[in-house]
Amino acid sequence: MKAVHVLNGPNLNLLGTREPATYGTATLADIEASLQARAKAAGVALTFRQSNHEGDLVDWIQEAGKSGAGVLLNAGAFTHTSIALHDAIKGSGAIVVELHLSNVFAREPFRHHSTLSAVAKGVICGFGAASYTLAFDAILPHLP
Ligand code: DQA
Repeated sequence: MKAVHVLNGPNLNLLGTREPATYGTATLADIEASLQARAKAAGVALTFRQSNHEGDLVDWIQEAGKSGAGVLLNAGAFTHTSIALHDAIKGSGAIVVELHLSNVFAREPFRHHSTLSAVAKGVICGFGAASYTLAFDAILPHLP
């Protein structure tokens, strides 16, 4: 069975109440529910995780690479700083779609650089919770 792991980084557990003007009012549980329904319809096994800790994301990217699962990665602020996540994607061979709720290019300059984009299959940002469903549809044809 094809598999997709949705990996969420720091502070995304606060969605729903965190800066709603920027991130919207959907909670992470709401996003998971709509993705689970989409995955079921597509016959894909979906694993949905969140951590505030960079090492957890490294472990989970490696796990996905090893098992052949595709990854939808919202690495939060680690997007802009993490060489470890860059190396995990490159080293594990995981197929990754980088995603963001907000349009990071329309925000502060420190959000304009991503350490992940160069090793991602592609990038989706700026569509709120729909960034997740767009990323899911985008990765489907690339799953092994
Ligand atoms: C984010 C954008 C990042 O710059 C920020 O640090 C986040 C969320 C987004 O989904 O828009 O935590 O990844």
